[in-house]
Amino acid sequence: MWWLKNIQVIDPSQKLSSPQDVLVQGGQVLEISTSMTEEEVLAEAQGEPVETINGTGKFLFPGLIDVHTHLREPGQEDKEDILSGSRAAVRGGFTAIMAMANTLPVIDNRALVEFVRRQGERAGYAQVYPIGTVTKGMQGLELVEMADMKEGGVAAFSDDGKNIQNAEMMRLALEYAKLTGLPIISHCEDKELAGEGLMRRGVASTRMGLRGIPAIAESVIVARDLLLAEETGGKLHLAHISTTESVELIRRAKAKGVDVTAEVNPHHLIFCDQDITITDTVLKVNPPLGSAADREALIEGLRDGTIDMIATDHAPHTQAEKARPFAEAPFGIASLETALSAVWQHLVLPGRLSFERVIEAWSYTPAKRFNLRGGSLKPGTSADMVLFDPDFAEMIEPATLVSKARNTPFLGKTLQGLPVMVWVEGRLVQRDRTVL
Ligand code: DOR
Ligand code: ZN
Repeated sequence: MWWLKNIQVIDPSQKLSSPQDVLVQGGQVLEISTSMTEEEVLAEAQGEPVETINGTGKFLFPGLIDVHTHLREPGQEDKEDILSGSRAAVRGGFTAIMAMANTLPVIDNRALVEFVRRQGERAGYAQVYPIGTVTKGMQGLELVEMADMKEGGVAAFSDDGKNIQNAEMMRLALEYAKLTGLPIISHCEDKELAGEGLMRRGVASTRMGLRGIPAIAESVIVARDLLLAEETGGKLHLAHISTTESVELIRRAKAKGVDVTAEVNPHHLIFCDQDITITDTVLKVNPPLGSAADREALIEGLRDGTIDMIATDHAPHTQAEKARPFAEAPFGIASLETALSAVWQHLVLPGRLSFERVIEAWSYTPAKRFNLRGGSLKPGTSADMVLFDPDFAEMIEPATLVSKARNTPFLGKTLQGLPVMVWVEGRLVQRDRTVL
């Protein structure tokens, strides 16, 4: 049994943000109250040993749920695998992750869905929920067997990394996915408009002489998909929104009652195109980092609920791949182990976002939208939770990262404010930054 004393509990599901005592027993949250006496706790324990934690100055919240994680297994285990990725997840404060479908082969049938799910269970760290592709081979031509894949355990369908270019295929996908009750996750990018671009088109790309991707390459597909979701009544989730115009389009669609949710990645909230240098590919990401004005629009959208969730888009790549010249390096930032701390430091501490909103957007809302375990510390729910120490500081170094990937912009930097204890189903899986 765990007794966490006088800890700041943030739990949007109970509208809780105050110092509490928390008891955890048998994998579940047993009780949360403002004061507990030792006699009461011992009576509840019924002889079981009680581990007491002094939580003064620390936070406890439901484990983060990342709806956009690339784990690369099967097929690209040199970048990451389900074990290393789900260990990185719990190190970063995530107790559940949704594994993106653009593996090798892509996750386009039930056997592969079950493989990913079982590998996650075997690893025994963060819960791993597979995402299936929308189309066979992610070719954009023929829908997968959605009902069958749902039986196998998919949480959603996505051709992430690619966009479904054909509007009729996207309409059909929304129509069929609706029958399963699962959302379609859309990576919004018009291929022709994006061209061979390497970063966002603007002053910074012009100055560096790098081919640009215009903002409209994203927004035009956001508009299309919102219209198709409205038309079909299907469930749409928009991945990694990065432009001012996209936020505005989503705001309008929500006002009309379209069944849409949207996510934003921490890197789009923290960096902008001016931070990119041609000699360092670490910030080469898709969708590309936008302008400083876009970053403001994204923060505002997240604050007012237009953007529902934060998701990492953890995209691990090898050092050799990222060491290539800018034009040839792959897109992607690895972020599971640094994302929460980066958001804390760059957005919460300066007062741009409340910590309550961050937890709601990264735990409660993902659980609700994708119908996953977690997102709440209500008594009787699974004890998937994080103890966060705002004073704990750590230099991000290759030797301490448990992900196989090193492509993080925080390498060599010190992050302060980190998860120092993480439980999955009441089982401690990370302590003092060490994955157990
Ligand atoms: O930067 C990205 N990397 N964006 C994507 O959409 C795909 C991802 C990957 O798979 O590496
Ligand atoms: Zn994507």
